[in-house]
Amino acid sequence: MKISVIGGGHVGATCAFLTAQKELGDVVLVDIVEGLPHGTALDMMQSSSVERFHKKVHGTNDFKDICDSDLIVVTAGLARKPGMTRLDLLAKNFAIIKSVTKNIAKFAPETKIIVVTNPLDVMVYVSLKESGFEKNRVFGMSGVLDSARFKHFIADELDVSIDDVSAMVIGSHSELMVPLPRFSSVSGIPLVELLPKEKIDRLIERTKKGGAEIVAHLKNGSAFYAPAASAVKMIEAVAKDKKKILPACVYLEGEYGLNDICLGVPVKIGKDGIEKVIELNLNSEEQSALNKSAESVREGIKNLKSQ
Ligand code: LAC
Repeated sequence: MKISVIGGGHVGATCAFLTAQKELGDVVLVDIVEGLPHGTALDMMQSSSVERFHKKVHGTNDFKDICDSDLIVVTAGLARKPGMTRLDLLAKNFAIIKSVTKNIAKFAPETKIIVVTNPLDVMVYVSLKESGFEKNRVFGMSGVLDSARFKHFIADELDVSIDDVSAMVIGSHSELMVPLPRFSSVSGIPLVELLPKEKIDRLIERTKKGGAEIVAHLKNGSAFYAPAASAVKMIEAVAKDKKKILPACVYLEGEYGLNDICLGVPVKIGKDGIEKVIELNLNSEEQSALNKSAESVREGIKNLKSQ
């Protein structure tokens, strides 16, 4: 496998490092800042004798080096500062994602793309349209991260092993995300039987603000360990053809009653990228929360079209 990571900031660098450590493939780390990807990649390679990984990490400013990539992770773009919503990043990151996607389509026309840049759902839509790729080849990382946060808060609250917690969060990567307690469990025991509604609601609120809580602490940046680890879980699903069922942001054509939009839903991920969209039987409350989430993404897409 050849895996390229576009953007050598905290998310991109962590993603490259984890990918190399797990030996999922050789990694190309691309950034426009002179020297940054070269230095970062060399630093990682110097750790290879300590960490005992046998894959290469190559740092470059040249997009040509992504040619023949099997998978490209796009992390390029600005991150939030305190007080900002992900949608505040729209205009700037739109321009970045458009130009990055053009380069991907030019140099790696057969690749699959995992978008990580915010506002996530809108950026996946931009990347899909701009690349002209089939919908199974362009998808976004958000649900894995949002459900990872939900899982952590559940394990913490119940004081149980994180290994046993399963949780599902769908919808947009924003405060309108839709955590689904009905589809979350601990060793098969439904969450709704383990915690009272008020407690679950509190965990849901914290999950929705999981990213913002970190931005508020860091003051000058956004989360990156959990976002990068979540992207790598998706890389692994593709690289090892794992057929994993994970929430991911994908293009919908009628599923969940939604059309021409990218939004987080459970999917099967394997060597072909998105191999299947799974339609949960949502109740009316869950469906209306998903619709609200979709409306905010549509609003973002409309804003772009009017620019
Ligand atoms: C977060 C950013 C990466 O959720 O969207 O932390």
